[in-house]
Amino acid sequence: MHNQPKYKPLRETVYYPDMRSARPLVAGTVARGQLRLEPGFYTGLGSDQQPVTTLPFSLTRKVLERGRERFDIYCAPCHAETGDGDGVIVQRGYLRPPSLHEDRLRKAPLGHFVDVVTNGLGGMPDYSQQVSPEDRWNIAAYIRALQLSQSATIADVPEDQRQNLGKPLLPPSEMIHGKTGVTGMEPSKPLQDGKR
Ligand code: HEC
Repeated sequence: MHNQPKYKPLRETVYYPDMRSARPLVAGTVARGQLRLEPGFYTGLGSDQQPVTTLPFSLTRKVLERGRERFDIYCAPCHAETGDGDGVIVQRGYLRPPSLHEDRLRKAPLGHFVDVVTNGLGGMPDYSQQVSPEDRWNIAAYIRALQLSQSATIADVPEDQRQNLGKPLLPPSEMIHGKTGVTGMEPSKPLQDGKR
């Protein structure tokens, strides 16, 4: 069993003329998990090298929530949670990024944001190791929502909501402590003789 007619990795052989037991890959071989039928999805740039203009999946609240979460983790340290470019790292001396609310970036196609995260740009390192292709799109969608939020006008607010502007935001009444209706989430009772 110990002596088998087999090759250890990269050992030479007389069987092939180039003496290599490790054979070159068949042309067109794709490693498992590496098939990229739509390059635009992975890089934000289409086959014409122009930024893709549409989200490659449908836009849902979940997409924006995930995008916000990832943005706040990976982008906000420099770009700030508002996107104005005054993040904590910038306050400590890092190169200041442009505000995401500049006119040029408000008009930039979504694929441009995905491209910047995938490949970096100038002083910005790429985040392709930290942020998956799908999350790059989630973030791009969230950046667009952030941009809209910072340039909204009164006309964007539904008429029946306008009287609420300027009032403090309150959580929905069902989320107020003790009103959850969910078993196990009642407010804890005061201790009596050391026991609940
Ligand atoms: C370490 C700081 C840092 C982090 C983190 C960072 N950026 Fe940047 N970003 C920069 C800087 C600096 C620039 C300006 C680069 C330049 O023009 O040289 C920039 C530029 C940009 C631009 C503008 C590109 C343009 O066309 O001018 C976008 C969009 C952007 N970043 C998106 C992101 C997103 C999305 C993330 C999170 C995944 C992110 N950045 C994380 C520093 C950062």
